Amino acid sequence: MKLNVTAVRDCYPALTDGYAYLDGAAGTQVPAAVIDAISRVQTTGLGNSGGAFPASQRADSITAECRAAVAALTGGNPAGVVLGPNMTTLTYRFARTLARAWKPGDEVIVSRLDHDANVRPWVQAAQDAGATVRWAEVDPATGELSAAQYRQLISDRTRLVAVTAASNIIGTRPEVPVITALARGAGALSYVDGVHATPHGPVDVRALGADFYATSAYKWSGPHVGAVIADPALLESLRPDKLRPAPDDVPDRFELGTPSFANLAGVTAAVEHLASLADLGAGCGDPRPSGGPAAGGAGDLRARLLRAMGAVQRYEEELFQVLLAGLDSMPHVRTYGRAAKRTATAYFTVAGLTPWQVAEHLALRKINVWNGDNYAWELTGVLGIRDSGSAVRAGLVHYNDSTDVDRLLEAVAELGR
Ligand SMILES: Cc1ncc(COP(=O)(O)O)c(C=O)c1O
Repeated sequence: MKLNVTAVRDCYPALTDGYAYLDGAAGTQVPAAVIDAISRVQTTGLGNSGGAFPASQRADSITAECRAAVAALTGGNPAGVVLGPNMTTLTYRFARTLARAWKPGDEVIVSRLDHDANVRPWVQAAQDAGATVRWAEVDPATGELSAAQYRQLISDRTRLVAVTAASNIIGTRPEVPVITALARGAGALSYVDGVHATPHGPVDVRALGADFYATSAYKWSGPHVGAVIADPALLESLRPDKLRPAPDDVPDRFELGTPSFANLAGVTAAVEHLASLADLGAGCGDPRPSGGPAAGGAGDLRARLLRAMGAVQRYEEELFQVLLAGLDSMPHVRTYGRAAKRTATAYFTVAGLTPWQVAEHLALRKINVWNGDNYAWELTGVLGIRDSGSAVRAGLVHYNDSTDVDRLLEAVAELGR
């Protein structure tokens, strides 16, 4: 099934403003269905959770539907979906909770491929517990994080392995199942950062072997909500800090205070939207003439998601070949990352210009890109570019089209003339 990108773009009101949105890795635009779902919550009476009246029960249903949707997207169990404001907050929370059991002599393994949100919380928690931090290294020439090195790094002292499912700047997708299997074999837990990986293809937390899988809905067409997916039995074994009257059940025990219910409804709508991507006909609301969802198992959200995200991955990979080949053909451009498996995320510098100057030049041509380390603090250090402003990131998501890529390549080519 091929993605009909014209119909996909038709779903996103913001994409009509004439800009090429190549900044999706820092947050995607949202489709009208998500905007509608959020505003519907605000226009229908809404109460806080746990009450005896319908408006409160609506809040409880919104939360339950959101957990089910995130579980469908990731292949997890709805009873193990912890919701929160974003991945960083949740990761600090899990780091503090897990570190309670760590002691001097224990080891925690982090990687230099990761966004700092999957590094610093673990490093600080290890320091507080007197545990030792060990580092998995990246090959600066290829951008690969070899899974083989974990055979030396992991031992019976290892308590936790934190690793990303994809780099947010150079796209590298490490062999996560190999790494998590090594961790499990040594009795250690794994915490997989799926924030960058989730929008770029099908996700199966069981196949990844992740004890914890973190994701953020604003990277996949949803509002600003984060989630951590884990086995409910594992969550049962952990005691986070919490208020005394707050629910002690799992997963609620891990959630602090009152959530943004309207945004949770938006997350559910975003998952539904992703599931619909392979079934769009001429426009956003139109089904494919062939009957759409039936081909993938009508009504089964997980099956539709796997099919749609498979189509997204193939679409992005094809478009990315054009983007990367175009950048690599320009003598004044240097691209970073050559991993065998990667997301459609380009990271590059332009000779004689700072990344900020390049981003400004592109902004004047209505092209949105990010410049800087994008919080990939360790990796930009490994690449030797952190002190010079790092690089420019242009990432593709399912709503980018060949016009976006052509405009970027033309504007970058101008810089070499
Ligand atoms: C790979 C990766 N991990 C973690 C984060 C942090 O996510 P959040 O903004 O939800 O805290 C980001 C955000 O850019 C990211 O790209």
